[in-house]
Amino acid sequence: MARGAGERGLTPEMLEGLRPRLEQARRAVLDAAGTGMLGWMDLPTQSPGPLLDFAAENEGRYECLVVIGIGGSALGSTALSTALLPFRYNELSRAERQQRPRLYVLDNVDPDETSALLDRLDLERTLVNVISKSGTTVESMAGYLVVRERLEAAVGASGLKDRLVFTTDPLGGTLRKIGKSLGVHMFDLPPRVGGRFSVLSAVGLLPAALTGIDVNALLAGAQDMAEWIAGSEGWENPACAFAGVQFLEDTVLGRRVSVMMPYSARLRDLADWYRQLWAESLGKATDRQGRTVNVGPLPVKSLGVTDQHSQLQLYAEGPDDKVITFLVVGEFAETIRIPAPGPDAQELAYLAGHTLADLLWAEQRATAWALAQRGRPSLAITIPRIDAFCLGGLIFLLEMATAVAGELYDVDAFDQPGVELSKQATYALMGRPGYEALAEEIA
Ligand code: PA5
Repeated sequence: MARGAGERGLTPEMLEGLRPRLEQARRAVLDAAGTGMLGWMDLPTQSPGPLLDFAAENEGRYECLVVIGIGGSALGSTALSTALLPFRYNELSRAERQQRPRLYVLDNVDPDETSALLDRLDLERTLVNVISKSGTTVESMAGYLVVRERLEAAVGASGLKDRLVFTTDPLGGTLRKIGKSLGVHMFDLPPRVGGRFSVLSAVGLLPAALTGIDVNALLAGAQDMAEWIAGSEGWENPACAFAGVQFLEDTVLGRRVSVMMPYSARLRDLADWYRQLWAESLGKATDRQGRTVNVGPLPVKSLGVTDQHSQLQLYAEGPDDKVITFLVVGEFAETIRIPAPGPDAQELAYLAGHTLADLLWAEQRATAWALAQRGRPSLAITIPRIDAFCLGGLIFLLEMATAVAGELYDVDAFDQPGVELSKQATYALMGRPGYEALAEEIA
């Protein structure tokens, strides 16, 4: 729950006042499960069999796995791998990786970055997973064409189909067409699942399975959370509580910035994934009645404790326009005790015997308290530990919270019309037929 009431805090009346709308929002989302673009709600109960089979059939075969995708087709994989693979996974020996491939996610068209990656790869022993729901996204298709040319030079046209695997819409798109003509193995991105809600589909699960992440546990955790959300109401419901606090802080108290601040380096990229989920889903020009509203809180990612020395000054003393969500982890895999200092540094003796986790937790609590002293609100989401089960639950919680927030703001949380214009302008500037007039207008 939000802390730091001060003069501009959430009051019991505000919370009570929102309760009926929260319940309405939760019901609307649950009742719409599986319809429209809410197919992601069914993902926890899917059978991951085919992608686990693919991972098993290809075990030990590849040295590198390259994911080519952008936005929702990349951020989920990055979040999962940072959270669930060993730190510095790509630096581990093949034996330490249990014969599993190194993982690289290419989600930009920066030529220097692309070239550096391609130069490092042993292309004969690389699998490239091209991920695009639409199968036409310019950045991902350009990345594919560049990588394909290199692959073909290394292994010949006949070797391509063993080094490519596509994840895309089952029905249409250029990627599906290419996959068919090359005979590439393809996984479906279900039609009712949008990019930023797709991490628990083959989009996130295939790279996860290939690198040894426990896909069944991820889904079980998501399903467990789905049951919790289906069985609890109002402020007792975790998705409603998160969405409701953010909504009230924004619309009633004018705190438009939603900071996601994990106190775990493993959750650093989950905050990045959340940033896209919240921004693209809620930042809208019109509501569902077509009225101009220009709503949407600004999601910001931050990392405890690192950003205490970078952002906290602003959070504490800058504009009072932020609500901070701490992601707290109850238990770390490793325990590191801080040793006693020598006689030359007795000022540090107070640290001796504590663990690094003690320090991390203390800093999170101290930060929440210090912010509250200044009337700056924060809330905490605590997960017992970072494993596939808990991460699946956290992902599903944030997806549901986003859908509930969409109801509260009365916007379509599943479209992104605002990015279309710049896409079309890019087509025009790159000479795509049909966009000549627009190219002239831009020129
Ligand atoms: O959430 C979304 O829908 C977007 O961020 C998409 O994931 C992104 O634009 C990539 O689209 P696609 O998967 O069609 O290549």
